[in-house]
Amino acid sequence: MQFEQELKQKTAEVEVLLDRALPAEEGFQKTIFSAMRYSLMAGGKRLRPLLIRETYRFFGGEDMSVVEPFMAAIEMIHTYSLIHDDLPALDNDDYRRGRLTSHKVFGEAMGILAGDALLNYAFETAAQAIDAAADEAVLHRVVKALQTLSRKPGIYGMIGGQVVDVELTGKEIPEDTLRFIFELKTGALIEASMMIGAQLAGADDSQVALIEKAAHHIGMAFQIQDDILDVTSSMEVLGKPVHSDEKNEKTTWVTLYGMEQARADVDMYSREAMDILVGMEGVKAPKETFLYAFIEWLIHRQY
Ligand code: FPP
Ligand code: MG
Repeated sequence: MQFEQELKQKTAEVEVLLDRALPAEEGFQKTIFSAMRYSLMAGGKRLRPLLIRETYRFFGGEDMSVVEPFMAAIEMIHTYSLIHDDLPALDNDDYRRGRLTSHKVFGEAMGILAGDALLNYAFETAAQAIDAAADEAVLHRVVKALQTLSRKPGIYGMIGGQVVDVELTGKEIPEDTLRFIFELKTGALIEASMMIGAQLAGADDSQVALIEKAAHHIGMAFQIQDDILDVTSSMEVLGKPVHSDEKNEKTTWVTLYGMEQARADVDMYSREAMDILVGMEGVKAPKETFLYAFIEWLIHRQY
C-alpha cells in the first residue's frame, strides 16, 4: 500500500512535468501541438521517466533541474515510437493507452508528423539541461547523458530492433534474433533511462556499465512480461488490444518457449537485475530504495 501510494504520487509528478514541457496549442501549426499533447498526455505507466529519476536518486542525486528535461524527453521519444508503431504501415492498431491512436484521430499524415515532432522536441527539451547545469562538472554529466539519449533510441538501439522486428513479422524468428529484437526494441530505452539517471548523478563509468547490464535484464523481463500479458490480459486492463501478436503473426517469447518457461524467464531476468543493484558499491542500502521496489513491481506488473 505504502509503495503503491508513493508510485501514484511520483507518477502524478511526471504528469505535471510533461504537461509543462509541451508547447501551447496556438499558431498556424496548432494541429501538431494538439497531436503531440493528445498522445503524450494519454497516460501510460511513465516508467522511463520514473527510471531516470529513481536511478538518479539511487546514486545520490538531489537537484532535479538537470534531470527533469531528460525525464520529459525520454517519454516523448517513447511516445513517438508508440505513435509510429501503431500506424497502418506498421502494426495498424486503433487503440493505445485506452484511447484511439493518433492516426485514427488526426489522420495518417499528422500521425507521422506527430511522431516526428515528439522525437525532435525531445532533444530540444533535453538540451534545456545545458542551461540548468550549475557548473562545468554538471555540464559534463549532461553532455554524457545527451550522448546516451541520442544513441540508444537510434539505429544501434530501438530503431535497429524495430527494423528487424518489421522485416521478420509473419516469419519464423530464430531464438537469437528474437533476443536481439527484445534487447534493442524494448531494452534500449530502459537502458537509456537508467544510464541517464546514473550519469546525471555522477556515477563513474563502471557503475554506469553495471546499471546498463541491470537495465538490460529489466528490459528482457519487461518485454517477456509484455508478451505474456498480450495473451493473458484484457483490453480494459492494458488500454490496448490484446492478442495483437497473434493478429500480426509475431513470434514471441511465449510462442517460442511456452507460457511456463516465459514466466520462469521473467523471474530469472528480474533476479539478476536485482542482484546487480544490491551488489552496487558505493550505494547506501540499495534494497531500501524506491528504485528497487519499483523494479520489483514493474516486472510483475499486470498492465
Ligand atoms: C510498451 O511500453 C512498449 C514496449 C514494450 C516497447 C515496444 C517497442 C516499440 C513499439 C518500438 C517502436 C519503434 C519505432 C521506431 C516505431 P509501456 O508498457 O511502458 O507503455 P506505456 O507507456 O503506455 O505504459
Ligand atoms: Mg505494436
